[in-house]
Amino acid sequence: MLSPYCATACAHANIALIKYWGKADESLVIPTTSSLSLTLDGLTTQTTVEFHADDESCEQAGASATGSPLLHDTLNIDGQEQIGTPLQRVSKFLDVIRERAGIALPARVVSHNTVPFGAGLASSASAFAALAAAASRAAGLELSDRELSRIARRGSGSACRSIYGGLVKWNAGHDDESSYAEPVESPLDLAIIVVLISAKEKPMSSREAMRLTVRTSPLYPAWVCASEVDMRDALAAVSHSDLRALGAVAEANALGMHAAMMSARPGVVYWLPQTVAALAAVRDMRTQGFDVWFTMDAGANVKVLALASEAEHVADELRNRMPDCAVEVHHPGSGVRIVH
Ligand code: DP6
Repeated sequence: MLSPYCATACAHANIALIKYWGKADESLVIPTTSSLSLTLDGLTTQTTVEFHADDESCEQAGASATGSPLLHDTLNIDGQEQIGTPLQRVSKFLDVIRERAGIALPARVVSHNTVPFGAGLASSASAFAALAAAASRAAGLELSDRELSRIARRGSGSACRSIYGGLVKWNAGHDDESSYAEPVESPLDLAIIVVLISAKEKPMSSREAMRLTVRTSPLYPAWVCASEVDMRDALAAVSHSDLRALGAVAEANALGMHAAMMSARPGVVYWLPQTVAALAAVRDMRTQGFDVWFTMDAGANVKVLALASEAEHVADELRNRMPDCAVEVHHPGSGVRIVH
């Protein structure tokens, strides 16, 4: 029998076509701009949360390392006990759920990932989406998807989009209630091909880098203005099934975000030599007739947008051109779900 205070949830990463980069409100995680993303298959986080009412232990999560009742939250990621910043961030997030549920119990959190941590592959999106769903269920909360997206947002902004499958819009809003994600109907059958340039943890977290960009980059206000127009263009492209228009605006939006972060003081540069090679390969493939566009997040890796029906062919061509890099095809994935 599982404890009534225990639940497990599974979520997938998402890749933004129109990016979230910068917060208008740091503590509530209200973004400066709306964003649009595709939730992917694979790139998964499965998380079990157990709130400890007494010394009862959850079969999935296990009790504390000593087997005794927990006095504070504990966090295990892929077999490694976490302390310091990752644990503090999870505890702070659990406080939001505890407050909402009216409980004051410590939690054991155990998480398994197929996403390399902190490599710009949206690990925080799948992580906080799974954590939000598991923790709120374990705390006895019955939330709508929209409410869950608002809660996941408090852990990591991009996580609010992983509550839903497929194409998802995060409405920036102006307060906790108006800042939520929702699914977008798409007639386009899209895929993302990930060119893995580096699985190493990035030199600066996206949270830190976006803060620095908002505070110091002279180009940031221009990107915010452009992003509003980009979102309108992207949604129009989706509704007209116009892959070329969608790809062009996604590529421009990502380059604008990187231009803004590179012009922060000091500049944030995630690109590696192989990153530039991959961007050039994608553009050259376009001249050869491939319908492909790139996007990048806070890391060196390159993601390529294509039609699902052409994804394997595109991946083979990228493998030929980038023989030292792993190239993986990802199709749209489902939203977060409770496993048990
Ligand atoms: C470049 O969601 O990781 O991937 O809210 O501070 O946790 P925090 O940031 P996070 O930022 C993601 C930034 C991005 C673009 C995107 O996913 O929209």
